Amino acid sequence: MTTRLAGLAALTLTLVGAACGLVGPSLAATATISFAKGSPLLKEPPLKIVAMAPKGSLHNPYNGNAQMAKAGHKLFMSYGCSGCHGGGGGGGMCPPLINGVWIYGGSDDTLFRLISLGSNRLHKAGYHRQAIENVVAPMPEMGVVIKHASDVWKIITWIRSAYQGPPAHKY
Ligand code: HEC
Repeated sequence: MTTRLAGLAALTLTLVGAACGLVGPSLAATATISFAKGSPLLKEPPLKIVAMAPKGSLHNPYNGNAQMAKAGHKLFMSYGCSGCHGGGGGGGMCPPLINGVWIYGGSDDTLFRLISLGSNRLHKAGYHRQAIENVVAPMPEMGVVIKHASDVWKIITWIRSAYQGPPAHKY
C-alpha cells in the first residue's frame, strides 16, 4: 500500500511537472531531438523526453555498443524489469523481449515510449497493438521510476543485443 501511494505521489509530481512546463529554456529551444554524445537530453527524465519529442523522432545513440548493453542489463535488473520479463528477457509472467514479435512495433522510438509511458498511456498517445504475445496485459509506466533517458537507451541496447528472433524482425 505504501509503495502504491509513493508511486502515485511520484506520478502526480511528474504530471504536475509536465503540465507546469518545467522544461528548461535550453530544452524548449531544441528544434531537433539529438542524443549525440554529451547531449544534456541524456540526463533528462524519460517522461519529459516523451512529452517534448515529436512521434518517430527518438533514436538510440548506443545501439551496437557492447559496453552500453552490459550497463543496460544491470539497469534492467535493478529497475525490476527482470521480475516480469525474466533475467534474460525471455519472458516469464510477461512477454519475452528477445523474440521476433514486437507488440507495438520494434523501433527505438516506440520502445522508448512504451517503456516510459506503459501500455495505457501509449494507447492514449495513439499507438496500437500490432501483434499478440503469449501474455496480454498492460506494461506499467516505468518512466515514473527510471531516472535518465540514457538509462532507457542502455536498456534498449541490451534488449537488441540479446535478440534471438528471426533476422527479418531484428531492428
Ligand atoms: C509488472 C510487470 C512488468 C514490468 C515491471 C515491466 N514490464 Fe515490460 N511489459 C509488461 C507487459 C505485460 C507487456 C505487454 C504490454 C502490452 O501488451 O500492452 C510488456 C511489454 C514490454 C515490451 C514490448 C515487448 C514486445 O514484444 O514488443 C518491452 C520492450 C518492455 N516491456 C520492456 C520493459 C522494461 C525495459 C522494463 C523495465 C524498465 C519493463 N518492461 C518492466 C510487463 C512488465
